[in-house]
Amino acid sequence: MNTLNNPVNTIAVIGSGVMGRGIAYVSAAAGFQTILVDINVRALEGAESEIDRTFHKGVERGKLTSEQASEAKGRLLFSSSMEEGARQADLIIEAVPEDIAIKQQVFVELDRCAPKECLFATNTSTMSPTEIGSFTSRPEQTIAMHFFNPVHKMPLVEIVRGLETSDSTAEAADWTAGRMGKETVVVNEFPGFVTSRISALVGNEAFYMLQEGVGSAEEIDRAIKLGLNYPMGPFELGDLVGLDTRLNNLNYLHKTLGEKYRPCPLLVKYVKAGRLGRKSGKGVFDYTAHREEVR
Ligand SMILES: NC(=O)c1ccc[n+]([C@@H]2O[C@H](COP(=O)([O-])OP(=O)(O)OC[C@H]3O[C@@H](n4cnc5c(N)ncnc54)[C@H](O)[C@@H]3O)[C@@H](O)[C@H]2O)c1
Repeated sequence: MNTLNNPVNTIAVIGSGVMGRGIAYVSAAAGFQTILVDINVRALEGAESEIDRTFHKGVERGKLTSEQASEAKGRLLFSSSMEEGARQADLIIEAVPEDIAIKQQVFVELDRCAPKECLFATNTSTMSPTEIGSFTSRPEQTIAMHFFNPVHKMPLVEIVRGLETSDSTAEAADWTAGRMGKETVVVNEFPGFVTSRISALVGNEAFYMLQEGVGSAEEIDRAIKLGLNYPMGPFELGDLVGLDTRLNNLNYLHKTLGEKYRPCPLLVKYVKAGRLGRKSGKGVFDYTAHREEVR
């Protein structure tokens, strides 16, 4: 039972890309009324079919019954209107691209349309919830809830309080993540928090190794997985995260934390070529047929 003053029943998720669709899935599966919003109707359609597939696989694997899956699907709505999404939400989780200008535009608009008690969370991988809260009239109701990819499988939500975040907002975020079946860590605000700060560094270094000819992408991934006991190699992970998202993270960390985060030129070249990873069909590896390395 939620004993908080500000119970969360309805969640709006803004952005239906790699992360937003995953967050909407776990939200609906956990019993929240959920509305997934995107300005791009094709992204919303893609999200709807991927969420359907995830429910289908969940039923096949015995994680939920088909009745639970259809009830959860019934709790999930899709919309291209931010206003419609925000209007009834108790909590809004933003998952638009890692670009502070886009996030600012979104939060200014959300602040205008959301009820005054509504809480704001950002799924940013690197940025400041204090700065994001400052775009709104409710910094004490703003927090970062950093989910991981794929959201339905990864156990952690990293919770990051901004300077003005209230205790009740932090409790509500923690309670919501727990109801979604997630573990939480609460960390202090600093660019990249804990997880992105390490992951961006490892992923970027792997690109430098590929650029220097230390090994093929397959070999580097194999070495890191089998030798360092990582569940995924850095290129497999980069393609899953999205190389554009990885580059945005690095650009922000380079600006805020310095030289060691300068994005590798090979990564920049892949993004310029539109090789964004799984979501575009090709990144370091090619996913259009079966997975193979492409140089
Ligand atoms: N990809 C990952 O593995 C990962 C992991 C953790 C956190 N994050 C963070 O999550 C956020 C989203 O990343 P992603 O990988 O899902 O990005 P993505 O590019 O896959 O999806 C972003 C979506 O936002 C939509 N969008 C853009 N502007 C919008 C607007 N004004 N209103 C509504 N929708 C809008 C786009 O159409 C797109 O569908 C970023 O802050 C990123 O750093 C990503």
